[in-house]
Amino acid sequence: MAELVPQRTADGSLTLRNAALDEPYHSLHGAVQESTHVFIKAGLEFVGRPHVDVLEVGLGTGLNLLLTWIRCLEGKCTVNYTALEPFPVTEPLLAALDHCADLAWPGLHEPFIARMTVPQQEPCEALGGLRFQLLQQQVQEFQEEAVADVIYFDAFGPPTQPEMWTLDVFQRMFTALRHGGVLVTYCAKGEVRRTMQQAGFSVERLPGPPGKREMLRGRKN
Ligand SMILES: C[S@@+](CC[C@H](N)C(=O)[O-])C[C@H]1O[C@@H](n2cnc3c(N)ncnc32)[C@H](O)[C@@H]1O
Repeated sequence: MAELVPQRTADGSLTLRNAALDEPYHSLHGAVQESTHVFIKAGLEFVGRPHVDVLEVGLGTGLNLLLTWIRCLEGKCTVNYTALEPFPVTEPLLAALDHCADLAWPGLHEPFIARMTVPQQEPCEALGGLRFQLLQQQVQEFQEEAVADVIYFDAFGPPTQPEMWTLDVFQRMFTALRHGGVLVTYCAKGEVRRTMQQAGFSVERLPGPPGKREMLRGRKN
């Protein structure tokens, strides 16, 4: 198991650093800032539906899950959230990160940890407008069709994990999306944009979160 170490980011929120890969789980300019900008605002809120099916690639510390859940609790939408994570983060590390305290939702701590550490691959009981399912599965094996309105594509960067950014993976993601759905990622590399286009996406370059010039959003027309 890789050594995972909590690390403070510039907006005050914590992330993890994978010491073996020397790669953080979020931008060190601000974990909450990045997740909110890339996945919530450019993804979930952009789609703007009362009910949204979200697929996340790389659940990690669950920050995107928690930010999505808070939107549900605020009455903005209901969400069916499926997350792929072959290497779930352990309970002690999740407790040390304490994302719920950072986001001023301490009451969510227990149900959040319960969902993040669910042993079976079955949907958890819906709570606060969110239904959650963790699949301990690699994205390279994902085969569902037309199941998502939004894909949060939150893999480690291409230099660290090039096998996450291939044409095969983006074709799988294109197949997983419904027409009108979008895939959002913090990555803005030209090669990634071209691979997404080859897979069928119409790709926009959008302003990135603080510390990053751009991000990408691909749409399935
Ligand atoms: C950048 S981190 C994700 C950050 C996460 N969204 C969060 O909010 O903490 C990348 C994640 O991708 C996961 N991962 C690695 N290989 C994967 C694969 N083949 N398929 C899906 N996820 C993978 C890693 O375990 C890691 O948790």
